[in-house]
Amino acid sequence: ARVVVLVSGSGTNLQALLDAVAERGAAAYGAEIVAVGADRDGIVGLERAERAGLPTFVRRVRDHGDRDAWDRALAEATAAYEPDLVVSAGFMKIVGKEFLARFGGRLVNTHPALLPSFPGAHGVRDALAYGVRVTGCTVHFVDDGVDTGPIIAQGVVEVREADDESTLHERIKEVERRLLVDTVGRLARHGYRIEGRKVILGHD
Ligand code: GRF
Repeated sequence: ARVVVLVSGSGTNLQALLDAVAERGAAAYGAEIVAVGADRDGIVGLERAERAGLPTFVRRVRDHGDRDAWDRALAEATAAYEPDLVVSAGFMKIVGKEFLARFGGRLVNTHPALLPSFPGAHGVRDALAYGVRVTGCTVHFVDDGVDTGPIIAQGVVEVREADDESTLHERIKEVERRLLVDTVGRLARHGYRIEGRKVILGHD
């Protein structure tokens, strides 16, 4: 499967995907990363892509007339690489109608909390503030809500007494990277269908 990855930050999830392809080989892993897109320049995620020799593209909201125009531009840039799957890996923008019209059902996001608890941009902080004893990460398909789409896989992380947002997020990200690599590989190798809120993976 051809995969375009979207990033906004450090890109450690992207790196985990790149490592999986490099270590296992695209054929065995089932997916190859064909391009990396971002909503800003100068981020480590883009450097990782360049180091891997991948094409990159940046579409910044402020370079476009409005949010819809940005969304269209992002969708067009992504479509140019003809992806089977698009992975939003720490991409901190909500995509719009046009992007979903083109890539709905093939757009995977990773979120650092156990959805439907703690959606939004501060999943780790909100879980900590709530006082939950376990949290984790969720890999899900994107629909037109914020972190509301069909859940594909989840991983659990215990909250420790001494945790702050950053220590907890780091431990979540360790689980998250493995979960994302595993999930993208499985979707790519086995195929899947979405029935309502249920994601049904194909088999070997
Ligand atoms: C991940 O925890 C992702 O779920 C969250 O931001 C983090 C991105 O990390 N929204 P990275 O850029 O992949 O290192």
